[in-house]
Formats: sequence, C-alpha cells, structure tokens
Amino acid sequence: MTAGPRETGGRSRPGRRAVLGAGGLAALAAGTAVLATAGARTPGDEREAAVGGAVAFHGPHQAGILTRRQSHAHLAAFDLAAPADAPGTGAGRAGAAGLLRTWSAAAARMTRGEPPVDGADDTGVALGAGPAALTVTFGLGPGFFDRAGLTAARPEALAPLPAFPDDELDPARGGGDLFVQVAADDPLVAVHALRTLQRLARGAASTRWVMSGFTRSAGGTHRNLMGQLDGTANPAAATDPAQRARILVTGSGSGSGSGSGVPGWLEGGSYVVVRRIRMLLDHWEGLPAQHREQAVGRRVADGAPLTGGTERTPVDLDAARPDGVPVIAANAHIRLAAPRGNAGATMLRRGWSYYDGPRPDGTPDAGLLFVAWQADPRTGFIPVQHRLARGDALARYVVHEASALFVVPRGAAEGEYVGQALLEA
Ligand code: HEM
Repeated sequence: MTAGPRETGGRSRPGRRAVLGAGGLAALAAGTAVLATAGARTPGDEREAAVGGAVAFHGPHQAGILTRRQSHAHLAAFDLAAPADAPGTGAGRAGAAGLLRTWSAAAARMTRGEPPVDGADDTGVALGAGPAALTVTFGLGPGFFDRAGLTAARPEALAPLPAFPDDELDPARGGGDLFVQVAADDPLVAVHALRTLQRLARGAASTRWVMSGFTRSAGGTHRNLMGQLDGTANPAAATDPAQRARILVTGSGSGSGSGSGVPGWLEGGSYVVVRRIRMLLDHWEGLPAQHREQAVGRRVADGAPLTGGTERTPVDLDAARPDGVPVIAANAHIRLAAPRGNAGATMLRRGWSYYDGPRPDGTPDAGLLFVAWQADPRTGFIPVQHRLARGDALARYVVHEASALFVVPRGAAEGEYVGQALLEA
C-alpha cells in the first residue's frame, strides 16, 4: 500500500489553490533555468576542518554544533546503568563522571586520528583513515540528572517537549539519559567511533537507540530526500555574535535555561532537539514540481524564494500578486517557520538524511534526522513546531516518529572531560 498525504491537525486537505500560492507557476518558469549555485557558506567555527582534516575536540563549545556538517553521522542515546550496590537508583555521580571522562579521552584521541585508548588493543576499523573531520558531541537527558544525583542542577529548559498534533512517537527510539552525535567524512571512522564509545560504556550505560544518516561531503547547502536545498536560512552563528547567542547559551543570551543565572558548565553549551521525521516519499515524489515548491516557498532548482532572486535573496513574505494572493502561500513551510511569526525563534538546523529500506507496507523508511541546536528550546524549537504542526503544507507529507531533547554542556578544556564542571561542582 502506498501511503497518501496525511490529514493534519484535524484539517481537511487544501485545494490546489491553497497549495499553489500566487505566482508559483511564474516563479517556476523564471527559476528553473537557474542551476543550484550552492556557493553559500555553511555554519562553521574556528575549528572548521577541510574534508579529511582534524577538528579539535577541546574548546569553549563542543565541536559538531557550529562546525561543518560531515557526510556520515550516527546519533545515539544511552541509559545509565544502576550501580551494583544500589540497584534501581541509577549509576550515581561517580559512574556518570567515570563514563564521561573515559568517553571524552577516547573522543579527543579519535578526533586526532589516534587509537581511542593509549596502549590498548583497538579493532583497527579506522586504521589508516586519518581524522576524517570526526566530531563527537555529548548531551545529557532529563533522566541523567536524577540518576547522577543532580536533580537540583537540572535546567528548567530541559523539561520534556510537549506533545504536538499528529506526533506518532515511538518511545523506544526517543529520549535517553545521554546523547552522542558522532559524525565524520569517512563512514568507517564514524562507525568505529560509535562502536568504541559503546564498548567503553559497558557496565556504565547501555545503548537505547541509534539512528544513522548521511549527506553530501561538499560545502554549500545540501539537499534532503525531498530534493530541497535545506539549511539556507540557518542563522550565521559562526560569524554573528547576536545569532550565536541564540544557538549557544550565554549569560546574556536569550536562553539561560536555568532560571536567573547560567551555571558555568552550561556557559557556551546548547540544547539539541532530535526528531526522526519520516517522509511520505511515494506520495511526495508524485506531486507536480510547482506543488512541491509552493509547499516550501522556495524553488527546487536553486533554493531561491518564490519571490525571486537567488538562494541568498531574502524572502519577501509580504509580496502579493495583483489579485492580492500572497506569493508565498499562507501555509508555506518557510512562512510558518520563519522567526518573524514566531517571536524571533531561531535554531541551527544541522540534520542528516536517512534511508533504512522498505517498511513492512513497502513504503520507504526514509526521511530526515532533524537535529536543531538552540540556546533555549522554549524560544526555539517548541513555538515553531507548534505552528508547523497546526498548518504547515509539508506536514501532511511527513511523520514525526521519534523525539528527544538534551542539554549540551560547554566544551571541555585540554585535560578536562565534558560535563566535569557539573559532575565535580
Ligand atoms: C522533514 C521535515 C522538514 C523538511 C523537509 C524541511 C525542509 C525545509 C526547507 C527546504 C527549508 C527552506 C530552506 C532553508 O532555509 O533551510 C526549511 C526552512 C526552515 N525550516 Fe524546515 N523542514 C522540515 C522540518 C522542520 C522542523 C521540524 C522545523 C522546526 C520545528 C523546521 C524549521 C525550519 C526553519 C526555522 C526554517 C527557516 C525558515 C526561514 O526563516 O526562512 N523545519 N525547511
């Protein structure tokens, strides 16, 4: 059976006119001759690495947030184990600290292209591959704070995400005490890093879920499996301090996440929302190009807004045809997701595509591992997703299947481990 588009938020499907906002066909005619330029810079930071180069593990914020997105990624969550002397209570602070110390040391070595543990046997899976721009990024889920005996230190912003209309979440593939994002330009380096962290966790934490994704390794904006250039309007967090303060937690930024003050372990950290979003590709791929473009508000060929220009031309949400119908449809994804209609809500979207073969019903198990970084999910992902779930033209072609929220401690200095300032406070 081929899945059709979904009825979302109790609404009936819109007619062709609603999907095809004004000017769609004209914009299409004008735009399809322009090939993708993809010259724009992706968010990076001072550790930006060429393909194959090394990205330093240590720094004021963790690598893998502002750094260039690599071609292969594994997202994984772990649950802390109960200590032998107190079953049912969680790993305790010492267990959690030991794990993060071991993980940080191994991650730092692997990002330099070295075997993960000095003097210990390694499987050799990544031998000879070099650093491959490997980054390893660690996050903490709500349960981490309870199981580590740090409930009082849990930031308010780490409250569970609300339920959104039409969510079809699988709890087994969401949540978790610890989050690990492993990404590299070499698939063997990425798998080796994940397997190493899993082996080092034995006895301290067990794998809860793993999701694997991919994208291009070249620079510029990458396409998702719906064919769209995805990431165009991302904030310039690497170069613009005001935008950076919306992605990384700062004392003066919008998202302290901890009431009045920002604790030292979080200063320079972030919050990451992970959503597994399956795409109803059999249906989407059968739509006329102008339908697909109107649903987003941008051209497929070059990612330019339907109001004209190139990929980097600002979208004119107020533009209307002579008959008064808006050029960017009322339910277009970029209208509903834009900071303008969401009290300035901003996030850095840095996800990967996935394709896991056919589902039992024959439809593709494929979509987007949506990964969004922000200084506070309450002023980032949450208001935007509330709005998208209610009326986004894309929403009927996607299913949110898994969800997780983690707080991401600041980066570790040389000789330190991630989370040390929290666990040893
Ligand atoms: C499979 C699901 C999704 C797909 C295929 C998708 C695709 C896109 C595309 C093609 C664009 C336009 C280019 C760009 O600026 O990146 C875009 C923009 C955007 N999307 Fe999504 N998106 C998805 C889910 C989400 C979700 C869940 C959120 C947040 C709750 C979100 C937030 C945004 C934002 C904030 C923008 C920029 C809007 C602007 O300021 O112009 N997207 N998305």
